[in-house]
Amino acid sequence: MPAVPQHSTIAVTGAAGFIGGWVVRDLLERGHRVRGCVRDVADESRVGFLTAMPAFASGRLTLHAADLDEPGCFDDIFRGCDGVAHVSHVSTYDDPEYVQRTCDHIVASIERSGSVRRAVVTSSVAAVISEADITELVRRPICDEDRYPDESNPKRSPERGQGYSIGKVIAQRAFADAAASSAAGWDAITVCPADNVGPIQSAHQQHGGPWQHLIGRMLQGRCEVFQGTGPYRPWMTVDVRDDAACHAGLLESDLVANGERYIAWSTERRSYEDVVATIDRVLPELRHDPGPIVDPSPDRHRAREAEFRGIWNGLELRNDRIRSVVPITFRPLDVSVRDCVESLIAVAGVEVHRRPAEGDSHG
Ligand SMILES: NC(=O)c1ccc[n+]([C@@H]2O[C@H](COP(=O)([O-])OP(=O)(O)OC[C@H]3O[C@@H](n4cnc5c(N)ncnc54)[C@H](OP(=O)(O)O)[C@@H]3O)[C@@H](O)[C@H]2O)c1
Repeated sequence: MPAVPQHSTIAVTGAAGFIGGWVVRDLLERGHRVRGCVRDVADESRVGFLTAMPAFASGRLTLHAADLDEPGCFDDIFRGCDGVAHVSHVSTYDDPEYVQRTCDHIVASIERSGSVRRAVVTSSVAAVISEADITELVRRPICDEDRYPDESNPKRSPERGQGYSIGKVIAQRAFADAAASSAAGWDAITVCPADNVGPIQSAHQQHGGPWQHLIGRMLQGRCEVFQGTGPYRPWMTVDVRDDAACHAGLLESDLVANGERYIAWSTERRSYEDVVATIDRVLPELRHDPGPIVDPSPDRHRAREAEFRGIWNGLELRNDRIRSVVPITFRPLDVSVRDCVESLIAVAGVEVHRRPAEGDSHG
């Protein structure tokens, strides 16, 4: 199926976001032209890092206003593009019909473009491992591209916190089905990134992730074990720059086929507590003082802490499939944490809670 050729024109949705911003930079470095899609091209606090790129000065990077909620608004942007990297979030994942509609908008604009050959759609590992019943991970511990959450579980509903995972699976199928039945000759490849860690490029990105946001709080000495993706789930990570390289690589790869999906993760996993400790280990000169680590888990989760940790650690994480179609060597998490910390300080001005320097006298 058609890979995008060298020196293509690629539209990137969510271009001002954490991942989208790195996808833009990576595509430019590969020599492509990029049309960055953002909701507000005039919001300097969000797009300033894009307009500061040399390629914006030359015109190889252009910015375009588009909101997924408005049908047709990508028509003009996609016309003449060879590829689309659909990275952006949607306004809500709690309404599957709305998620489907946003996919339909993008698909319709691809169909009308007359030029798009490939769409790479950003999903999540939540579409691989987010289970309504965690013991399903014991029954099926191999985490590769063939694994889907148990969709027959009646507890798999937005009301029970599964909306994100459901929405991502809907999007994958919507794009693959549309491309399969299209006469326009394009294909859709899904990338399922894990927990993105790495440098932010703009101060506003410090609040997202949530992984960079959590590292920011660690730096400030406000450590609270994160349970948002499952009780005592370790971080299962990918460097945001490697994630971007996977997106670009999948646009360019002639080894992939419509409907396939690829997980982007290094296969490293680390507990929240060990991520906290990583900061001082990789950057001892910061004299980071994390303060006490608070565990806000409800008692019913605390009682099963060892069991939960055992389930997560029993998973077999695989990334051989993406490595077989994209040239990629995943960075170690230590590097991602270091570069995330340095960017949070340098780009976002995060203030570090520090131990006194040796020799400092107090009271
Ligand atoms: N971060 C992770 O660890 C992670 C892991 C797995 C998957 N993902 C997926 O990766 C994608 C990007 O995540 P991210 O962390 O980079 O998020 P992010 O920094 O919040 O960026 C997401 C972007 O989505 C755009 N957006 C939201 N609603 C929109 C709408 N209705 N119309 C148009 N644009 C809209 C926003 O655009 P504006 O700036 O223009 O408002 C925002 O910049 C998402 O699809 C997410 O599900 C992320």
